Amino acid sequence: MALSSGTGSIVVLTGAGISKESGLSTFRDADGIWATVRIEDVATPEAFMRDPERVHAFYNQRRRGMLDPSIRPNPAHLALARLERAWPDPVVIVTQNIDNLHEQAGSTNLIHMHGELEKSLCAYCHARRVNRGDLAVGDICPDCGQLGGMRPDVVWFGEMPLEMPRIHAALARCALFISIGTSGNVYPAAGFVQLANEAGAETVELNLEPSLGVSFFDTSIQGRASEIVPEFIEGLLAG
Ligand code: APR
Repeated sequence: MALSSGTGSIVVLTGAGISKESGLSTFRDADGIWATVRIEDVATPEAFMRDPERVHAFYNQRRRGMLDPSIRPNPAHLALARLERAWPDPVVIVTQNIDNLHEQAGSTNLIHMHGELEKSLCAYCHARRVNRGDLAVGDICPDCGQLGGMRPDVVWFGEMPLEMPRIHAALARCALFISIGTSGNVYPAAGFVQLANEAGAETVELNLEPSLGVSFFDTSIQGRASEIVPEFIEGLLAG
C-alpha cells in the first residue's frame, strides 16, 4: 500500500478549498460564491438559455479574477506538482476546480472534470479553444462561424462531468486516494472515495474541516491546505 511501500498509483481529488489561500473563493463557505449568487441563475443550461448575458457576466468576472497576476499557486498546488515528479508510479489530479492553478504549479497529469474557465466551448460544433478574454452573446464561433453559441467550457449543474471513464479507471487501480479542499457536497466527485475504498486503496482527506464524506476516509487531517498538504506529501515521499 502506498503509505507504507512507497509505490502504487495515486489519485488526488481537489476542490475549491485548495485555491482559497491563492485568493479564489470557495462555493459553500460563509463568504463563498453561492452565498452571493444562486446556482439556478448562473450555473445551469436553463440559466444560459434564459439570460446568457448574466451567465457570461458571471464567468467573465471570475475569469478576470483568476487571470489577475496576484492569483498564484500556493504551497499545496506546488506540493502536488512535486509529488507527480517524485513519486515512482502514476499520480493523477482530478480537479473540480475550473481555475488554472494546478497547471501554473507544474502539474501535468490533470483532469478538469468540471471544465476550465480558460477555455471556450461552442454549443453548436463543440469546438474547445483557449480563451482568456470576455465571452459574449454576439461572439461568432471561430470554428463553425455560427453566432450565439459561445459559452465558457464549464460543466453546469445537470450536465455530465468530463472524462468520467478515465477517472473511474484511475480510481479502480489506485493504491492511494487523497481528497483535498472539497466539502463532499457534489456528486459524482463526492462518491470517488467509495470507489477508491472498493479498489482497496488507502483514503486520506485533507480539508479545513471534516467533509460530508469524512466517515468514508481511513485518515482525515484538518487544517489549511497550504500547511497540511506539503506536510503530508513530504511524509509520503520520505517513505
Ligand atoms: N484549506 C483547506 N480546505 C479549505 C480551505 C483551506 N484554506 N478553505 C476552505 N476549505 C474547505 C472548506 O471547509 C470546504 O469543505 O474547502 C471546501 C470547499 O467546499 P465547496 O465550497 O463546497 O467547494 P467544492 O467542494 O470544490 O465544490 C464542488 O460544487 O458548486 C460546485 O462546481 C462547483 O466544483 C464545485 C463543486
